[in-house]
Amino acid sequence: MKVLVIGGAGYIGSHVVKAMMKAGHKVTVFDNLSSGLRCNLFKENDFIHGNILIQSEIEAAFEKGFDAFVHLAAFKAVGESMENPEKYSVNNITGTLNIMNAAVKFGCKKMIFSSSAAVFGAPQYLPIDENHPKNPESYYGFTKLEIERFMAWYDQLKGLKFAALRYFNAAGYDPDGEIRGLERSPQNLLPRIMEVACGMRDELKVFGTDYDTRDGTCIRDYVHVTDLANAHVLALEYIAKNNESLTVNLGTEKGTTVKELLDASRRISGKAIPSEDVERRPGDPACLYATSKHAKELLGWEPKFSDVDTLVKTTWEVYK
Ligand code: UD1
Repeated sequence: MKVLVIGGAGYIGSHVVKAMMKAGHKVTVFDNLSSGLRCNLFKENDFIHGNILIQSEIEAAFEKGFDAFVHLAAFKAVGESMENPEKYSVNNITGTLNIMNAAVKFGCKKMIFSSSAAVFGAPQYLPIDENHPKNPESYYGFTKLEIERFMAWYDQLKGLKFAALRYFNAAGYDPDGEIRGLERSPQNLLPRIMEVACGMRDELKVFGTDYDTRDGTCIRDYVHVTDLANAHVLALEYIAKNNESLTVNLGTEKGTTVKELLDASRRISGKAIPSEDVERRPGDPACLYATSKHAKELLGWEPKFSDVDTLVKTTWEVYK
C-alpha cells in the first residue's frame, strides 16, 4: 500500500517507517522537522517537508494519493501540556483535524493514530484494559482522548477507518542499529538515564521513592519501539482486511520500576550513572501497566523486544 507517515522523522515515526518498508509498503514521510530529524529519514522514501497547521501543505500531500496514513505528529510532554495547553490545542487538536479533513477530502480513509496510556489517568484497576475508564490527568492525555472521539465520528460520518494505538511507555531503539537520531531535550526516563551515562547530564533525578511498589519507585510498562512499530503494520493489515476500526492498548503486562531500569542501565553500560532521590513528580500514578490481550487477539501482536535488557541495550548502543 502507499502509506503517508506524518511525523515520520521522529523517534517513533522513524521506527514505524522502517517497519512499514519491511512489510513491503511504499512510504512517504511528511514532517516539519520541529522535533523530527533529517538523519531519521531513509533514502528509499519520498520526503515532504510540510506543516500540518498549513491546510494547503497537508492537502498537497494527500493529493498525491495514499491508501493509508499514520499520524504521529503530536507534542507529547505531559508537564508542558499543563503549562502551555494552547500549544497542545493548536498542534495536537487543530493539526489532527487538518490532517483528517485533508485525508477524507482526497479519499484516504485508513488512519493509524498514536494514542496514549495517558487517556486513562490514574488506574482504577490493573492491568489496564481497553474498557478502563478514561479520565486523563493531563491536557496532553485529553488531546489524545478527544482525537479518539473525532476519529469515531469520522468513521460514522465519513467512512474513515482508524486504529487507535494506545502506547504505554515507548522505549528502546532499532535492534539493527539503523535508526540513531537522539531526541532533543528528552523528558522520558530511559533517554535521560542514557544522557547521564554518557555525560550529557550530571545525574538522574528519581521522582519519588515512597510509592507503594516493590522498591518505592514508580512502575511503568516499557514497550520497545520496534514492537510498537510492528503493531502499526498489523493494524493497517487489519483495517484493510476487515474494513473496521479498532482501539487497542499496547503494553507488555509487565511493569518495571524506575530503580530497576536504572540498575539495568548501570549494569549494561558499565557506567556509574549518578542519581538523586527527589520529590514525587505531580500527577505520576504509582503503577501503570496494560494488558495487551486485545491486541494479541485482534492483531496477533506480541512484543518481542520489550524485555528490560533489550530495551536498555538497544538504547545504549545509540547513546554510547
Ligand atoms: C507519560 C504518559 C504517557 C506518554 C508519555 C509521553 C501518563 C500517565 N503517561 O509517561 O502516556 O506517552 O508520558 O512522554 O501520562 N522519571 C524519573 N526521572 C526522570 C524522568 C522520569 O524518575 O527524569 C520517572 C517518572 O516519575 C515515571 C517514570 O520515570 O515514574 C516514567 O516517566 P516518563 O518516561 O516521563 O513517562 P510517563 O510519565 O510514565
